[in-house]
Amino acid sequence: MAVITIDHAAEFVGDEVTVNGWLYNKRSSGKILFLEFRDGTGVIQGVLARADNPELFARADRLPRETSLTVTGRLRADRRAPGGCELDVERIEVIQEPTEPFPIELKEHTPNFLLDHRHLWIRTGRQVPILRVRDAVFRAVRGFFYERGFVATEAPILTGTSVEGTTTLFPVDYFGEQAYLSQSGQLYLEATAMALGKVYWIGPAFRAEKSKTRKHLTEFWMAEAEMAFYDHGANLALQEDLVRYVVTAVVDERSRELEQLKRDTAVLVEEVRTTFPRVSYADAIAILQDAGHDIQYGDDFGAPHEAALGDHFGKPVFIERFPANMKPFYMKRAHDDPSVVLAADLIAPEGYGEIIGGSQRVDTLEDLERQLAEYNLPAEPYKWYLDLRRYGAVPHAGFGMGMARLIAWICGVSHIRETIPFPRQINRLYP
Ligand code: 4AD
Ligand code: MG
Repeated sequence: MAVITIDHAAEFVGDEVTVNGWLYNKRSSGKILFLEFRDGTGVIQGVLARADNPELFARADRLPRETSLTVTGRLRADRRAPGGCELDVERIEVIQEPTEPFPIELKEHTPNFLLDHRHLWIRTGRQVPILRVRDAVFRAVRGFFYERGFVATEAPILTGTSVEGTTTLFPVDYFGEQAYLSQSGQLYLEATAMALGKVYWIGPAFRAEKSKTRKHLTEFWMAEAEMAFYDHGANLALQEDLVRYVVTAVVDERSRELEQLKRDTAVLVEEVRTTFPRVSYADAIAILQDAGHDIQYGDDFGAPHEAALGDHFGKPVFIERFPANMKPFYMKRAHDDPSVVLAADLIAPEGYGEIIGGSQRVDTLEDLERQLAEYNLPAEPYKWYLDLRRYGAVPHAGFGMGMARLIAWICGVSHIRETIPFPRQINRLYP
């Protein structure tokens, strides 16, 4: 007899099979018990008639939700059932029966209650499909970079320098020395790119950001890439290919989960089908002003502005050529206008906001020393980084893609806290 996982159940219709899992939910008509089992790969409905096995019926009828168990039965095709089949239950071996009711009921709870019970919440409802999509997104990103000849590498988490400005650093006492949790692996990837050519990693990033929005976490995962001999244009072309590849691959691989999430994947596929527009920051400001937004050249985009730009184009859009003083110290200035940088943010449609930030990097020692000084950053901690411009500097570019925001857009969920197993936000360190 086959021990199967629920995602493969349809392949075993007609067979007697065993599933290891948990009792997810239960309904009874008095004569028939409908037992929903889950195993991490999906949910399947088991059916048990009192007349067929009164003893098993009575025992199963008393089992509380989230009882861990091994269930055996025969699979029967049923077109109305999710996954296309049901299980006629013949045997149940209980592994552990909870003595208290499972705290997460299959009804509405407040966000705070759910977040306090995140360790249990992840077993229920949309959370399983979201985390399965997350897995597929990570794999697709890795697949893309592997196919493009990138070398996977790593950057340290404990660092002595700031990348993305000094206001969002998490300080750490490093044996008496001041250290920080990394805001981005970029500076280190620039070094590795000079050793290996094209590199990437998916790593954690930390921002002590006091923002309580649905797009900000204090700890999040970023896919970062850095490419020697890439200019701004090549950087954007690569990002566009990456986003299209990942969305297409995940829609294909996780169609069942996206259906459970009620995500309209036709919309998603259409959004990435054709070229992503490239719009200057100045033109984006004009578009927003025309639409009646109160925003001036030099202002940061807020969530409503990003949403408006997404709506305006109906697909991901690159906003490029930002004023230099709005962006970090390491970005290369445009040749034709040194007041703007060769950087772009990729704004996702449907209100999901900025999913990628990237730029061509300053590649001469003189420019880098000058820009560090302009940002009042001390040269000493960046000594090693300056070395990269001393020994065989080349034009290079790279970017960071926020995994949580990308996953939120793909899944169509409104808050990124649902896209990571254990979200970290201000005021939340547990569970
Ligand atoms: O735009 P950011 O700050 O860019 C960098 O850190 C660059 N050093 C990356 C690089 O070039 N290697 O962050 C990159 C992306 C953003 O576009 C956003 O999607 C995501 O990371 N991000 C966040 N996601 C969740 N919570 C936060 N607090 C985030 N801050 C940035
Ligand atoms: Mg950014």
